[in-house]
Amino acid sequence: MRIGVLTGGGDCPGLNAVIRAVVRKGVKEYGYEFVGFRDGWKGPLEGLTMPLDLTTTRGILPRGGTILGSSRTNPFKIENGVERIKENLAKMNIDALVAIGGEDTLGVATKLDSLGVKVVGVPKTIDNDLNNTDYTFGFDTSVNIAVEAIDRLHTTAESHHRALIVEVMGRHAGWIALHAGIAGGASCILIPEVKFSVDKVCEWVNSRFESSYAPIIVIAEGAIPQDGDMVVKDQTLDSFGHVKLSGIGEWLAGQIEEKTGKEARTSVLGHIQRGGSPTAFDRVLATRFGLHAITAIHEGDFGKMVALHGTKIERVPLASATTQLKLVTPDLYAEAEVFFG
Ligand code: F6P
Repeated sequence: MRIGVLTGGGDCPGLNAVIRAVVRKGVKEYGYEFVGFRDGWKGPLEGLTMPLDLTTTRGILPRGGTILGSSRTNPFKIENGVERIKENLAKMNIDALVAIGGEDTLGVATKLDSLGVKVVGVPKTIDNDLNNTDYTFGFDTSVNIAVEAIDRLHTTAESHHRALIVEVMGRHAGWIALHAGIAGGASCILIPEVKFSVDKVCEWVNSRFESSYAPIIVIAEGAIPQDGDMVVKDQTLDSFGHVKLSGIGEWLAGQIEEKTGKEARTSVLGHIQRGGSPTAFDRVLATRFGLHAITAIHEGDFGKMVALHGTKIERVPLASATTQLKLVTPDLYAEAEVFFG
């Protein structure tokens, strides 16, 4: 069998660990050949490949990013995109694909599966918002990066008696903000799922200052004020219809200064959260996902995504992961709220 592998969407730590595991088990246990498709769905669409074997996948386990490259190419938005992918796969004698990605990349995989392309998905995203898996790989690393930043911001905020706002990624789901905020002892955590009141945030800021302590506010880039809109960088849409976010932290700092008279500054963590070496947890999860994905291919169980349920890796229908997002639930947010103010 010849198997194609691709990584799509925003990159995240652990992608190389998946690629390595897929290839290592595929070659050693099943005698498969591999083709690396470059830059997400652009690879099979344009026939862009690179060699993928035991040699090219050596030493990549701890490396961030993806040796295959990534893009947000959506073949369903390109004329004859699906036909071109099917033609290229046939030309290259590719029997099946391992698609490693988040809601967009696996959303494409779901549709291609229904059109006869043999594909197995692996859930990737720092946002942890893919449905039907307890965790995606990459999330743990980004949370740890954010927690380290929060720990550092605590000490400088205290020295200068300032409020410090930490803006983290999370377009629709506040998982990074929730986990980093709880672990970092934030004075409040603002997530896309729950519209926030600026007055309430100012109350928490004041009460934190009253206890001689500088407040740290963790805010997801997609958080929305009760009396306002999502803050976007500009209005351009990518091929999956997403705008570029960022700016809500800066906006909130202005509001806090105006309403409390205290100095407020913002740190936007941005792509730092997506770069660098994966944590041990993500390396293990990514490796296990890779091993189970190639076994699913070997057993002909296509149209599935490997998923973490408890400590077990199981297979779920691709569509069950991509038709709705996994959002922070009110009970989890209530646990964090105990520490606000
Ligand atoms: O989907 C992962 C993610 O990191 C989001 O949290 C963020 O909104 C987006 O990607 C940023 O994407 P880009 O790097 O393409 O600007």
